[in-house]
Amino acid sequence: MNQYAVWGNPIAQSKSPRIHQLFGLQTQRNIEYVAKLGDEITFEQQLAEFFQLGAKGCNITSPFKERAFALADKYSDSCLLAESCNTLKRLEDGSLYADNTDGKGLVADLKRLGWLKVGQKTLVLGAGGATKGVLLPLLQAGLEISIYNRTEDKAVILAEKFTKFGRIQTACLEEIAEQQFDLIINATSLGLQGKYVELPKSLMASVKIYDMQYAVGMKTPFLNYARNCGSTEYQDGLGMLVGQAAFAFALWEDEFPDIEPVLMQLKQEMQ
Ligand code: ATR
Repeated sequence: MNQYAVWGNPIAQSKSPRIHQLFGLQTQRNIEYVAKLGDEITFEQQLAEFFQLGAKGCNITSPFKERAFALADKYSDSCLLAESCNTLKRLEDGSLYADNTDGKGLVADLKRLGWLKVGQKTLVLGAGGATKGVLLPLLQAGLEISIYNRTEDKAVILAEKFTKFGRIQTACLEEIAEQQFDLIINATSLGLQGKYVELPKSLMASVKIYDMQYAVGMKTPFLNYARNCGSTEYQDGLGMLVGQAAFAFALWEDEFPDIEPVLMQLKQEMQ
């Protein structure tokens, strides 16, 4: 039986074990996937032991994505650019291959929703680790990106870093108010504090809105604000979560699972 896990702290809330259990059933793979509580001090040692015991791969979540990145031997392009990893795979020679499947998961979800159009003007909120993890696949999908961040310097650094992969620039709040967008993606961690970026109501009401955070009934702070602004086209990040898991599963098990039925099942179970 191939053994997998998700490492994070906290981790009890993670939906990854259930998602991978459903992928295993769907593809008839006999896999074990468990949640592991990482230790702030001994995480590297814990991971080394996990792989020494024969595990084939794992997912990594907050706050260990950068530390896991530092432990890997080989990297995918998106992982190298993100400088953080959410998926590790043990290769035949025992070395560790690192990928970041968050961006691929997001792009897959935007496709599923019919929200992915080449040249589409997209406003990305935030310039932290979550944004860095998704920019390459978004640019490769042909989106035209403006990044807004509270700390503008961080947005400038990201835009410069990714400019060779597509059309990307920064935007301040005044510029946003004067521009037209097709899609807004919230990649800030503000929702965790019950807050959101207060964009102009008229803008919120007229564009598609995707929040990388997720919640029962899509009741994230940013999507609550979107509804208050009159938005009718909004989505939370549950589909992205299942999408990033599907790319990890495919990397480990050489079979791409069907995302939609697993997403529907999760939604039902969350009600
Ligand atoms: P993550 O890995 O979730 O992206 P992060 O790297 O700490 O976490 O980035 C958090 C993002 O949310 C950043 O863009 C941050 O803005 P700053 O770069 O200005 O810190 C944004 N964010 C967090 N709290 C915020 C707040 N109270 N107001 C505005 N933006 C906030």
